[in-house]
Order: sequence, then C-alpha cells, then structure tokens
Amino acid sequence: MLLLAARALKFGSRDHMTIRPETSGDFSAIENIHIAAFANHPYSRQTEHLIVNALRADHALAVSLVAEMDGKVVGHIAFSPMKINGCDCQWFILGPVGVLPDHQRHGIGQELIREGLKAIRRLGAEGCVLVGDPAYYSRFGFTHNSALVMESVPPENLMCLPMTEQIPHGCVSHHPAFWVTA
Ligand SMILES: CC(C)(COP(=O)(O)OP(=O)(O)OC[C@H]1O[C@@H](n2cnc3c(N)ncnc32)[C@H](O)[C@@H]1OP(=O)(O)O)[C@@H](O)C(=O)NCCC(=O)NCCS
Repeated sequence: MLLLAARALKFGSRDHMTIRPETSGDFSAIENIHIAAFANHPYSRQTEHLIVNALRADHALAVSLVAEMDGKVVGHIAFSPMKINGCDCQWFILGPVGVLPDHQRHGIGQELIREGLKAIRRLGAEGCVLVGDPAYYSRFGFTHNSALVMESVPPENLMCLPMTEQIPHGCVSHHPAFWVTA
C-alpha cells in the first residue's frame, strides 16, 4: 500500500476534507460507500464493495484512498494493476470510485481521482485505464484510444490516460477480483 501524506482541503468555511490512504479501520465504511453509491447505478452489478475486498485480499489494491470529512469517511477510490494481452504492465485500472449520495457533487470525486492519479504516477505508472462516462472523465485528461480495447466494453467507454509517450496496443484485462459474484 502506498504511504501517502494525507492532504487536507478546505471546503467553504466549516467543512474540511482530507484525502488519505485507507487504513484497516476504514474497511467497513468503504464497503458502505460503494453499496450506497452504486445502489441505483444502471450498469452496476452491485459488487463494487466485493471487488475492493477481493483486490485487497489479493494484495492488488495498488492505491486505495479515502476522503474524510469532519471525521467521516465519505468517498473512496481504488487503483489496481491490469494486463495488456495477458501480460503485466505499468498501467493501472481506476475504479471503483464512489462518494456517499449525500456528499456527491461537492468536488469529492474529483479530488479522489486527482490525488489517485498522482499516487499511481509516484508508483511509476505509465498510464491508467477506466470504464466510465466520457462526460465525467474527460476533465481529467482521459480519452478514448483505439489502441486499447476491452472485451464486452463499448469502445467509447474504455478511456485511457497515457503517462508516457508510448501507448501500448492490445486487449486490457482487469484483475480477476472484478469478476467476483455476490
Ligand atoms: C461519480 C462520482 C464518484 C463523482 O463524485 P462526485 O463527488 O459526486 O463528483 P464531483 O463533485 O467531483 O463532480 C461533479 C461533477 O461531475 C458530474 N458527474 C458526476 N457523475 C457523473 C457521471 N456519471 N457522468 C457524467 N458526469 C458526472 C456532475 O454532473 C458534476 O458536473 P459539474 O461539475 O459540471 O456540475 C459520484 O457521483 C458517485 O459515487 N457516483 C455513483 C458511483 C459511480 O457512478 N461511480 C463511477 C463509476 S466507477
């Protein structure tokens, strides 16, 4: 697990947010965040909390950050290693990312993503991939690139952010934890 200095951010005059690496005391809060955040998500199988647990159990949570506001954990983001054409690489998958419904649209998701991308860069990442809505993720520099494909994923929803000049070509695969069943 990456040891990352907690970053405190000030929101308005009263609310304070800290982005920091998860600790064992956060596991239950992280589960609850993803259960609540994805409860009504149209493309979710409602297994995001199980995916995080399975990644952690397999030591594949390369970066796992929480957002804490006034002592409460309200958001979480995970990054894990991925493969291209079945081979290990220095690219990471972003996700899942979730924010408690009552705290959405206050900039927490954006801060988790920005801090997470910085964290994987410090790990030597050469790029990052996610499956998501281009309307949201393009603001972080993610674009569709036809060099990378993923089985069963519409091309426009497979977005990538290269961190070096070279973009590999091939088929992206998640860690097996992503296929966990409820
Ligand atoms: C997606 C999510 C993590 C964003 O976190 P957040 O704290 O609510 O988002 P922010 O406040 O940082 O950003 C809000 C902006 O993102 C937009 N946005 C949020 N989710 C979006 C989505 N799925 N598609 C398009 N835009 C989205 C909002 O419209 C808003 O845009 P604006 O700034 O132009 O008004 C959060 O909404 C969430 O947990 N959603 C449910 C789970 C989910 O969809 N996770 C992502 C898929 S892995």
